[in-house]
Amino acid sequence: MTHADISDVLLFREQISEAVKRMAHQIEEDYPKELPLMVGILKGSFIFMADLVRQMQRPFEMDFLRLSSYGSGVDSSGKVRLRMGVTRPVRDRDVLLVEDIVDTGLTTSYAVGYLQRKRAGSVKLCALLDKPSHRQTQVAPDYVGFTIPDKFVVGYGLDFDEQYRHLPDIHVLKKGQL
Ligand code: XMP
Ligand code: MG
Repeated sequence: MTHADISDVLLFREQISEAVKRMAHQIEEDYPKELPLMVGILKGSFIFMADLVRQMQRPFEMDFLRLSSYGSGVDSSGKVRLRMGVTRPVRDRDVLLVEDIVDTGLTTSYAVGYLQRKRAGSVKLCALLDKPSHRQTQVAPDYVGFTIPDKFVVGYGLDFDEQYRHLPDIHVLKKGQL
């Protein structure tokens, strides 16, 4: 690997793929009547969402939300901004939020609140990664791929300064960058 800022692989693509399949099957079981409207939180979730939705055996709708809280560094600014809202109707519908990683929980709490204000029938959360060590809110994902230690990770959609989203595995950012 020639990228200077990143070190070991934390999660290999094969492990990620297994976790994505497991989550997809669980979601299908939990919504026997109709699959929920799946709402990906951009940008980080785009690769996870793409893999997750291709495991689904039944039709459903999807949409995206764009939120931002991080500046260019690795610590949350603590302020979440809505940059782009959903376009599909949400009222009285089951919604499943799809997120790359839950860290402080501020981003997901904001997204849940946003959907509740739009009177969603139910809101559940599917997160590929759960990093519970800095949690500042009550949020707990309903579906989790992996619970990870307090390390800044990149790849599979996750960025550092908008770099490394394209990497197929999930890597830890080198300490010198933090
Ligand atoms: P909060 O703290 O609001 O964070 O739960 C959620 C958002 O923060 C970003 N985030 C990370 N991005 N590697 C990343 O590339 C990480 O280790 C990391 N931790 C948090 C991410 O954008 C997520 O949507
Ligand atoms: Mg990010």
